[in-house]
Amino acid sequence: MAAQNGLQSRDSIERRINALMALQDISRTLTSELDLNRLLRKIIHAAVEVLDASTGSLLIWDPADNSLVFAVTEGGEGEGETLEQRRMPADQGIAGWIFTHRQPVIVEDVSQDERFFKGIDESLGYCTSSLIGVPLMTKGEMIGVIEVLNKRSGEKFDEQDLDTLSALAAQAAIAIVNARLYSQIREERDRMLSIEEEVHKKLARDFHDGPAQTLASLIMDIEFIQKLLKRDPSKVEAELLQLKEKATKAMHQARTTMFELRPLVLETEGLKAALEYYVEQLRKTESMSIHLQIEGLEERLSHKVEDIVFAIVREALNNIKKHAQANNVWLTVIRGEKELLTTIRDDGRGFDVAEVEISYATRGSIGLLNLYERAEMLGGQIAIESAPGQGTTVSLTVPLPSTKATPGDKSPS
Ligand SMILES: Nc1ncnc2c1ncn2[C@@H]1O[C@H](COP(=O)(O)OP(=O)(O)OP(=O)(O)O)[C@@H](O)[C@H]1O
Ligand SMILES: [Mg+2]
Repeated sequence: MAAQNGLQSRDSIERRINALMALQDISRTLTSELDLNRLLRKIIHAAVEVLDASTGSLLIWDPADNSLVFAVTEGGEGEGETLEQRRMPADQGIAGWIFTHRQPVIVEDVSQDERFFKGIDESLGYCTSSLIGVPLMTKGEMIGVIEVLNKRSGEKFDEQDLDTLSALAAQAAIAIVNARLYSQIREERDRMLSIEEEVHKKLARDFHDGPAQTLASLIMDIEFIQKLLKRDPSKVEAELLQLKEKATKAMHQARTTMFELRPLVLETEGLKAALEYYVEQLRKTESMSIHLQIEGLEERLSHKVEDIVFAIVREALNNIKKHAQANNVWLTVIRGEKELLTTIRDDGRGFDVAEVEISYATRGSIGLLNLYERAEMLGGQIAIESAPGQGTTVSLTVPLPSTKATPGDKSPS
């Protein structure tokens, strides 16, 4: 009897050592895999192998509809593919129980367990007898569930299997978080690159329509004056005066563009000074009247709010210059107690907002989309009201941190 116990414990130690060695191997593979889908496949493959099981599934929680999605499956002779991407409510079945209770389980005979979600087995013609499942979580945050079914040997899963699977799940959870972060960073990088590309395209377009055209027209004027010098020198002075006016306007336009690209006053003196300077520059080159009203901006706002509000005003004013043919523009910035209200209104030709928004996928422009995106970055809201022949109003509301002490705030002592 003692000898038999000895044999059993030797067998158990051997199993443990094998499992630990396998885990060490798996850990190395998992931490180096950054492709999320491949990583999930490796995790479930490892789980099934290390527990010598027939099949297994890795379910990922989708907070959008609080469901568990069969992200990847292993084994099950091809049925797994049918199972993948199927979802079930996050509080149903044994997986749902593991997920909501954040606890592992061993179920020896699932047919006797009322939590078991038979639908999946029935639809796949598969017969689950024993099951072991653990939560996938890191720092208390739930990611999903790993379930492994039916030992190949026909034996039941035991506590040792549970330890092994839990250790694997802990490493897997960290690897999943890493892979997700990596993919978020890549997406963010791609987004930045495409924004940069758009900005370059826009710059090239603006230079083509602005300074390049003005220069071409100045050169034509100079050629004309050269001919005039021979033909009718008395008219040259008047022509030169006009030429100077045109060149001065071009210089102001170039200064405005430079200021738009890098508004230094915004950095050094803040939003109020930047808007005043900007409007002053525009008045030198644009024929429309610009009415500026700024209230409550004596103190500076955060750099982020100042930068983004300025960028939104710049885009809205550029649209007015380019498209509106307006006689008047009203730019109002009012700092309230809890929010900053910015309105840019024109009495120009207006446009059909819905039509423009629908056609964005096929348009080359990004202006209005940028307005929404920028407002969102501040937790604010943009409303664009316009109709053909009725002018346009862009209203931006940005929440501000309250400056007044709330009851319970400790006064500085
Ligand atoms: N104030 C406005 N008055 C009249 N039409 C406008 C006004 N603002 C926008 N629009 C119309 O909405 C369209 C979309 O504007 P958006 O800023 O997205 O693109 P864009 O100015 O054409 O190009 P981009 O801003 O990328 O250089 C414009 O092409 C124009 O037809
Ligand atoms: Mg635009």
